[in-house]
Amino acid sequence: MNHPTDPHKMTQASTPVGTHAGYMPGFGNDFETEALPGALPQGMNSPQRCNYGLYGEQLSGTAFTANPPERTWCYRIRPSVKHSHRYEKIDLPYWKSAPCVDPDVISLGQYRWDAVPHSDQGLTWLTGMRTMTTAGDVNTQVGMASHIYLVTESMVDAYFFSADSELLVVPQEGRLRFATELGIIDLEPKEIAIIPRGLVYRVEVLEGPARGFVCENYGQKFEMPGRGPIGANCMANPRDFKAPVAAFEDREVPSTLTVKWCGQFHTTKIDQSPLDVVAWHGNYAPYKYDLRTYCPVGAILFDHPDPSIFTVLTAPSGQPGTANIDFVLFRERWMVAEDTFRPPWYHKNIMSELMGNIYGQYDAKPQGFVPGGMSLHNMMLPHGPDREAFEKASNANLGPDKLDNTMSFMFETRFPQHLTPFAANEAPLQDDYIDCWTSLEKKFDGTPGKK
Ligand SMILES: [Fe+2]
Repeated sequence: MNHPTDPHKMTQASTPVGTHAGYMPGFGNDFETEALPGALPQGMNSPQRCNYGLYGEQLSGTAFTANPPERTWCYRIRPSVKHSHRYEKIDLPYWKSAPCVDPDVISLGQYRWDAVPHSDQGLTWLTGMRTMTTAGDVNTQVGMASHIYLVTESMVDAYFFSADSELLVVPQEGRLRFATELGIIDLEPKEIAIIPRGLVYRVEVLEGPARGFVCENYGQKFEMPGRGPIGANCMANPRDFKAPVAAFEDREVPSTLTVKWCGQFHTTKIDQSPLDVVAWHGNYAPYKYDLRTYCPVGAILFDHPDPSIFTVLTAPSGQPGTANIDFVLFRERWMVAEDTFRPPWYHKNIMSELMGNIYGQYDAKPQGFVPGGMSLHNMMLPHGPDREAFEKASNANLGPDKLDNTMSFMFETRFPQHLTPFAANEAPLQDDYIDCWTSLEKKFDGTPGKK
């Protein structure tokens, strides 16, 4: 073995390795990044003059007194006041916000939809958003909405931000690029992205058509769930969340900025791209996460934990332990429990559960819950395995069994979810879904020991 001549000399890493080019690892870190050398002030936030003639500006996602405050300092070509002018209201009739309670729509029920098909119409991130359900109230910043997006066209010289919400994006088909003020996120199926409230961005189609799901969170930001006795490892690990490095454009062309604000849409004309942040530091940033890095934890001897064991992210409400939203992932995993009914059991739940299928087959419903499709089991409505799933699971020889090629998720909220007219009348609702439990038999005849 070769010994270094200086026994105190350490071998030092030269560049970050092991992470993805263009991204920085960690959940909620205080990141710093600059697209031009020396653009980021060191040791202070607001120097008398910023390098390159940049303007310093703070973007706050929490009140200043929050603990910890979530904010990002941006060093940009123009301050944001140059990217906001007089506003006109515009109509995006398929993007709804809570409260959206239609007297002609019945939300009380168990519902399931096939994948919403693409149309011949060219649709952008804004015109292609189709709200399925809303919950809570956007004006008091509680609750959520669920959407399907159908996107075939890139936004060109057009930008957007939502003052109402952060968006959790779950692609199912196609690839999208989110060109944001704080950098670029490329997104494909099996990944998710979080776009914070107030962040300006443009969505481009890298590979279309693109379809997926969006959870619009009106409330407090998503965070990692408390892990309790599970401890520091498994489930989602902080290092697998990736924030983009700084990226900017110096582009002077007539452009539009659309703003979602209190459930309404407004547009303003500007003379340049607002994606002009050359450097930034802070903990309020977009990020993505690869769902394939989620390490499931489950029963390894008998019985069946609650599905909260699969929580990737949670958005708290004012009531501890009762989330505004839980984002829950049902992915490939081994089933090994002995003498156990392994699929989800029958249940009623105060939370309302909206599920989506990214790919494959879900274990409680062998048929009918298709990739791109959704289901809704609303507050206190019973649901569970269909007859085929029940009989199969009740009679299976229980060896180790891998649930493979399957990825579904749940947006679960403490608030009841109301169907939009689109979900009730235009989306491909399966009228016979409720019948999936009809053929379940009475097995009881008073005989003890009967199984
Ligand atoms: Fe459920």
